[in-house]
Amino acid sequence: MASSFTVPQRILHWLMAALILFNLLFTDAMETAGRLMFRGQTLTPEQVSSANIHVYVGIGVLVLGLIRLCLRLVQGVPPEPRQEPPLLRAVAKISHWAFYALFIAIPLAGIGAWYFGNKTAAFVHTGPLKLLMWALIVAHIGGALVHQFYWKTDALKRMTSG
Ligand code: HEM
Ligand code: HEM
Repeated sequence: MASSFTVPQRILHWLMAALILFNLLFTDAMETAGRLMFRGQTLTPEQVSSANIHVYVGIGVLVLGLIRLCLRLVQGVPPEPRQEPPLLRAVAKISHWAFYALFIAIPLAGIGAWYFGNKTAAFVHTGPLKLLMWALIVAHIGGALVHQFYWKTDALKRMTSG
């Protein structure tokens, strides 16, 4: 079995991390657009263009997420390092699949909100799904640090230089 993530898997990991963090952190334009839209007000073309940056970055996450899912199913992933306790290995596995579910669910809910004006989709997008994404990211970075400095595994290396 492979001992590292493949180069395409590594590129996708870091590219998608950047796109997702962009959409989580720079929300001003989309928040303004969403507020006006749900109040039934008209948006200026500039407001629509600014909000569309969020939309296209988010659709990028959806498309790249699907490609990455196919790659994972075809190429597989390296086994969890042996130093990691079995319970935490299971937690890591579940949280990685939860990320994949979010790569699809967050953009789909966003599409429901933006293109179909669906309030429930907007609520799910900006409430529970956003929160779950943040929680996973915080736990994920924490996990990467524990791997690196406490268990001293090669986890970070196989997602960077390989
Ligand atoms: C990885 C993908 C995405 C992430 C991480 C993301 C994240 C966010 C965040 C953090 C907000 C602001 C939430 C708040 O008010 O606190 C937001 C709002 C919004 N997003 Fe996204 N988004 C993504 C993709 C998309 C896509 C693909 C679309 C549409 C095609 C979209 C449409 C919207 C809309 C319409 C709002 C405003 C909703 C409202 O005001 O009620 N998002 N998104
Ligand atoms: C939005 C941010 C991020 C997301 C959504 C994310 C998502 C993922 C996912 C789904 C995996 C599972 C492997 C795969 O299928 O590709 C993974 C693995 C990994 N991530 Fe991230 N990641 C993010 C940020 C980070 C950051 C900031 C770090 C470093 C501190 C990091 C370090 C790693 C490492 C080391 C692995 C490999 C774990 C292993 O060997 O099993 N990730 N990430």
